[in-house]
Amino acid sequence: MPTLHIDSFRELTPSWVDAIPSILADEIFSLAGECRLVESKNKVDLLIGAYRSDDGDPWPLPSVLEAERRLQHQGDAAKHEYLPIEGDPVYLRQAQKLLLGLDDQSKLFQRLVSVQTISGSGAIHIGAAFLSRLLKPGCVWVSDPTWAPHILMFERAGDVIILQVCAHNPTGLDLTQEQWKKVAEICARKGIFPFLDNAYQGFATGNPERDAWPLRYFANMANPIRFGVAQSFSKNFGLYGQRAGAFHLVLKEQDRAIQGNILQQLQFIIRTEYSAPPRTGSTIVKTILGDADLKAQWLTEVSAMSQRLGSVRSALHNGLRGSQLNSDFDHIIQQSGMFSYTGLSTKEVLRLRQEFHIYLSSSGRISMAGYYVTRAIREVQQDPSSK
Ligand SMILES: Cc1ncc(COP(=O)(O)O)c(C=O)c1O
Repeated sequence: MPTLHIDSFRELTPSWVDAIPSILADEIFSLAGECRLVESKNKVDLLIGAYRSDDGDPWPLPSVLEAERRLQHQGDAAKHEYLPIEGDPVYLRQAQKLLLGLDDQSKLFQRLVSVQTISGSGAIHIGAAFLSRLLKPGCVWVSDPTWAPHILMFERAGDVIILQVCAHNPTGLDLTQEQWKKVAEICARKGIFPFLDNAYQGFATGNPERDAWPLRYFANMANPIRFGVAQSFSKNFGLYGQRAGAFHLVLKEQDRAIQGNILQQLQFIIRTEYSAPPRTGSTIVKTILGDADLKAQWLTEVSAMSQRLGSVRSALHNGLRGSQLNSDFDHIIQQSGMFSYTGLSTKEVLRLRQEFHIYLSSSGRISMAGYYVTRAIREVQQDPSSK
């Protein structure tokens, strides 16, 4: 029987513990924690990309509440059972349809391998893990700036390019259809694997079908290319804490024989990380997408969220323009979605935080779902010392 050398174990233990280095905390979440502790009534949190009502409160979507009511009423005894490793097949089918606009007869289903994930972040992570195991890319391209976790999740993931489908975080600036076509052509010509991050479907134009245009263009190219999609239902269903998402691989016709292996690889990654996905959020999503009335209601709600974000944008722009600041702030209304990249300097951001208790990320990104902050921005911009 092998013996355990307790003495050497004792010696080792402190050294590895002592050697654990500190790492940078996530800026958005740690500032949000700091903001929660501030006692001022006037504090404003413009950090996290979560939709808020006019009063600054969370807004559970009425379609989601109705789906929850129906599910409660059904009293499904299996509602706390494990899902399969790859997730709920009905949910995955609905998720595919929403992405690619497919009807039940579509041949495109046969080119898809999909797994349910821990929301959009989990989809990016599972996709990155899959690519780093199998594609072993030498290079990963991202927009500059991009959502910071893209870089952290793709440490080494030939080449991959991460593209946000719509309502770009943090800039609010999306590619035009002509630019998407060019990007697709370059990916095809150079053999680059596009990884499309679809976290805000519906927030750019108010219409999830229209926002999915780039995905549908990629999927229907005359000479198909393989690509990945990370799909999140956090924002467009307001299901932030429920962690409903999916990772999809759109393959070529000739990949059919290998699809089983691909699914096994994805199942292996999931099984060894968290075993099986959570089911509450995905059950709500499939209930809504699978019911014509609830889906119609949800579409109206997505449009209402997008419109409200647009009106916050206009109000902020109206409040700031023409006030002889060093920007006309027109970019605020040229951008779309949940965020605005204000162009404020890190110093100005710091002053907003320290003097006005207005919290935004040091890059100057604000979540448009927050309150108006016109007066405070004017004040810090009129002061040359904060440049
Ligand atoms: C660009 C982008 N991708 C993905 C996500 C993932 O969000 P979640 O994990 O909540 O689905 C976010 C969230 O802020 C995001 O901004």
